[in-house]
Amino acid sequence: MIKKGIILAGGRGTRMSPLTKAVNKQLLPIYDKPLIYYPLSVLMLAGIKNILIIVNKGQLNQFKKILSDGKRFGVKINYIEQKSPRGLPDAFILGEKFIGQDNVALILGDNFFYGQSLTYKLKNCVKIKTGCKILIHPVKKPELYGVAEVNKKNKKVMNIKEKPKKSKSFMAITGLYFFDNKVSQLSKMLKPSKRKELEIVDLLNKYRKKNKLSYEHLGRGGAWLDTGSIDDFYNTSAFVSALENRQGLKIACLEEIALSNGWINKNQIKQAINFYGNCLYSKYLEKIIK
Ligand code: TTP
Repeated sequence: MIKKGIILAGGRGTRMSPLTKAVNKQLLPIYDKPLIYYPLSVLMLAGIKNILIIVNKGQLNQFKKILSDGKRFGVKINYIEQKSPRGLPDAFILGEKFIGQDNVALILGDNFFYGQSLTYKLKNCVKIKTGCKILIHPVKKPELYGVAEVNKKNKKVMNIKEKPKKSKSFMAITGLYFFDNKVSQLSKMLKPSKRKELEIVDLLNKYRKKNKLSYEHLGRGGAWLDTGSIDDFYNTSAFVSALENRQGLKIACLEEIALSNGWINKNQIKQAINFYGNCLYSKYLEKIIK
């Protein structure tokens, strides 16, 4: 069972500039909470309590102000600063000590997942013992994503194409991955690409070539939204607003997930209410402990 997870929450945030000039993208609001709450909630739904957050150099204190050591919502958070955005597999080089002898999940700090069977699927993914498992989801424009061609019979990924001009497959590779313990060693063998970054596709291909890259579908009842551009960001915000206001249930309320996982008790929710102060988020927390 995978018990450790990494969130990559650094990056340049070029597409979101000037919003990201002073504030990291992951701390900007998706409707009523910072973006980082959403990927963090996904790891928590997967049952992962031991979490490493990789942040840009100089931005550590901003993250600590809101997430601290994670105790408020029943997890343990470690942080590492990344000197410059060297690419996604750098997470496993920087995180080598954190990973130790274990398997590990990686989620990109700007990825949003939602859906009825999400928790069930996540719990399946954390079961991997060897190899790598990715989560795939259909997209209208495969030319904008890393795309997977899959074998439905054995649930293996047969081919990966990065932003293909023409593609038979509409299955994009999302920003959530589950790796075995070889991942740091394999990441260290990667060479930077033309854009001078270590590429996640190159890492996935190392597993694929050994027939060790499998996949899980999020399913069409699930949503995967990327929040990389300003329009995507506002669309995701509108999605959360529409659902939360209709249902009266919050998406990615970390304390609620921790309570239902049995990681914190009602007293700790009261402490969280003190931390947040008089706001709608606190009102929601009050409601769930009534
Ligand atoms: P990207 O979308 O590749 O980059 P970005 O968020 O910096 O945005 P832009 O392309 O507009 O410059 O990154 C995906 C996520 O991973 C994002 O949350 C930032 C994070 N990231 C790191 O933390 N370190 C890295 O080295 C890279 C490449 C990304």
